[in-house]
Amino acid sequence: MQPFNTKPDDGAISPDTSRTIILGEAVNLRPGTCARFELPQGDELAVFNVDGEYYAIENFCPHKGALLSEGCVAGHIVECWWHGWQFDVRTGECLTVREKIRTFEVKVREGMLTIDQAG
Ligand code: FES
Repeated sequence: MQPFNTKPDDGAISPDTSRTIILGEAVNLRPGTCARFELPQGDELAVFNVDGEYYAIENFCPHKGALLSEGCVAGHIVECWWHGWQFDVRTGECLTVREKIRTFEVKVREGMLTIDQAG
């Protein structure tokens, strides 16, 4: 007789019942690279792999709206490709002017990059 599994699905992805958004396979975002993701509401994220740690920030530069996912990445810093404003992808802090952009915690679940959207 087949045993019946009564254990909860710890860490399981359940996109239909939660605000978890699956971005894609972690293996496809190599260290030192960035990818652009569109969220269901139309927002965009720039997601970075910095030495195996994943970070997500809003994708539009607060200066003139350039895509930060197209910027130049060096360690935890992304430099906007239009006018050079620099942002720390860990905190969203701008290093050029007094500005801050939104950040999103990226989790790896079953090999997939995910974020949990706040309510
Ligand atoms: S648009 Fe990013 S620095 Fe100007």
